[in-house]
Order: sequence, then structure tokens, then C-alpha cells
Amino acid sequence: MIVRPEILPPTAAAIARAADLLRAGDLVAFPTETVYGLGADASNQDAVESVFAAKGRPEFNPLIVHVADLEMAERVAVFDDRARTLGHGLWAGPFTVVLPRRPDAPISPMVSAGLDTVAVRVPGHQVAHSLLKALDRPIAAPSANRSGGVSPTTPMHVAKDLGERVAMILAGGRCQVGLESTILDMTCDPPRLLRPGRVGRREIEGLIGPIAAPESEGQAVPLTPNAPGQLASHYAPRLPVRLNAVTVGPTEALLAFGPDRSIRGGATRLNLSPEGDLHEAASNLYAMIHRLDDPAYTAIAVMPIPERSIGFAINDRLRRAAAPRSNSPAIEC
Ligand code: TXA
Ligand code: MG
Repeated sequence: MIVRPEILPPTAAAIARAADLLRAGDLVAFPTETVYGLGADASNQDAVESVFAAKGRPEFNPLIVHVADLEMAERVAVFDDRARTLGHGLWAGPFTVVLPRRPDAPISPMVSAGLDTVAVRVPGHQVAHSLLKALDRPIAAPSANRSGGVSPTTPMHVAKDLGERVAMILAGGRCQVGLESTILDMTCDPPRLLRPGRVGRREIEGLIGPIAAPESEGQAVPLTPNAPGQLASHYAPRLPVRLNAVTVGPTEALLAFGPDRSIRGGATRLNLSPEGDLHEAASNLYAMIHRLDDPAYTAIAVMPIPERSIGFAINDRLRRAAAPRSNSPAIEC
């Protein structure tokens, strides 16, 4: 009897088995350089449906289509010269582009929630790439967590959150970037940053010229029909999150950044980067939130994170983790 989920190191044999499972309509979690993805064969309507069911994700919130290279991307979406320039410059890597969907795209309409656009990305992780090559079809994959929760950056996060809902987890270690990909909507003029990430506004503008982005790249983009996943509360642990902490209560867990000697007390503490390195902080963010999200504490107090470089993306995720949790359904980002 096979116990679900199978958690296997990503050997060639395991990747071949993962591709077989995907072909059969099963769900496979796999590592990318950003976070773990919950993968389904994007052409299989039932498999795509089971991604939404496994995550408890509203069906109006579209998924990102993962492809092996620009050539496969062009079978899914309509690329113009600027989109191609971005593909050449930023792929494989933590960058997603929203483009018009090709009418003959080999993907179920449900992947893009019935929209005539589609989000596409070529992941930079070797295991993700090998899996896409082995399957030789696009993989629809949201982050491998229950909708509204904290994204997974280790195989154990996936197992804890999704358990038997996934057939296999390709255990490729910790995700290096640690935050979801940057998303750029190219179906409007100028193109619009929908989600900040490791690839920053300047890097994009260096390739294609001005884009629209909020004042601070990290501020939430207002909800429009083009950005179905960008609502306030998200990435939320069970505990309340308190931002810009300069003190910590005796029952709170402290998530520190940089030298934290000025803050005393707290029930426990972890430091995102004692040296104040923002890339290290991004890489540690979700893993540390997972660890501190323990009912032994009353809240997670987070020290201020500088608004520069990948700090924009860290603050975007922290603001959503701290946002009031209304009764409206959690929206996945
Ligand atoms: O790094 C990542 O992007 C990870 C890894 C697994 O690749 N994936 C990820 O997927 O973060 P997910 O589903 O958690 O977030 C995808 C976001 C959602 O906010 C969704 O609304 C948005 O992309 N999205 C997908 N298709 C879109 C479209 N056609 N137009 C606008 N937004 C779209
Ligand atoms: Mg997500």
C-alpha cells in the first residue's frame, strides 16, 4: 500500500514517477526557487479542479501556468516583443507575466478562472525544470498551502498543510528566494506590477521602460477584475501579527531583523537576518512564521523591515499577514 503523500528526494526516478502521477490526474507538490507549488497537469480539467478543492481556493482566482521555457510559454500565451524581452531577460527565474491567453492554449479554461488572460512563469529551480521536461506539458501550480495561509518553503510545510490531499511531494529542500514570484500584468498599458517579489521594478524597467506600480512597490494593489488575487488578508498564520514592533510583550514571539539587542523580553525570538541582509530575511520569512505560529504565544511581533530591494515584497506579505481577517473568504495570492 502506498501511503499518501509519498515524500521522495528528487531523484530521476522520483521525477519520472511524479510526471506519471501528473499525467494520471494526481497532484504533486514540487520545489521552485520561490515557494513549493501544488502542481496539476494544466490541460486536465479534473486535475485543475482538484487543485482548487485541495486548497479550498475560490474558483474565480486563477492559477499560474508553469512552463519549461519561452517556447512552451508561447504555446500558452500571446507574446509581443516586450514580453519576449522580459522572457529572455528574467527567465528562468522568480517572475510571472500576465498576457492574453491563446485561444488554442493547451490548458483547461479553469486555470485562468475563465479570464481571457493567463499568468505564465518559467521557474528557475532545477527540479521544477526537470519535472516540466519529463511531463512535457504546462503545470498549473499555486503555492502548496491551504488558501489564505502561509506559503510553504519546505516539504514539511506542505505535508503539514495539505497532507493526503497531495499524492507526492518532491522534497527538494528549502526554497532559496522564499517569497512568491513578482507578477507583472502586460495586458494593460503601461504594464502593471500586481505582486512585488525578488525581481524588482527597476530590473523590469531596465528591460522594457516604465511600468505602473504603487508608490511603494510593497503597497497592496487595489482589487480590479485583472488582479483577482490581490485582496488584503492573506499569508496569515493563526496568531495575530503585529508590525513595526519596537517592544515585545512577555507572551509575544518576536520576529527580529538586524541586531535586536535594543528589544528585551518576549516569550521567544527568531531573527530573520542578524546581519540585516534582506535576501536572507526573505528566504527565512515563511519558515520562521511557521515556527512561531504556536498557540503557546499570543501574537507574533515583527520588527520594522526597510522599504528597499526585496524589503518591499517582505513588507507586502507582512501587511497582508497582519490585515484584519474579515468573514469574507480568504483570497489567495
Ligand atoms: O512563486 C510563485 O509564483 C508560486 C510558485 C509555486 O510558482 N506560485 C504562486 O501561485 O504564488 P499562487 O496561486 O499562490 O499566486 C498566484 C497569483 C494569485 O494572486 C492570482 O490571482 C494571480 O497570481 N493570477 C493568476 N492568473 C492571473 C491572471 N490571469 N491575471 C491576474 N492575476 C493572476
Ligand atoms: Mg499562494
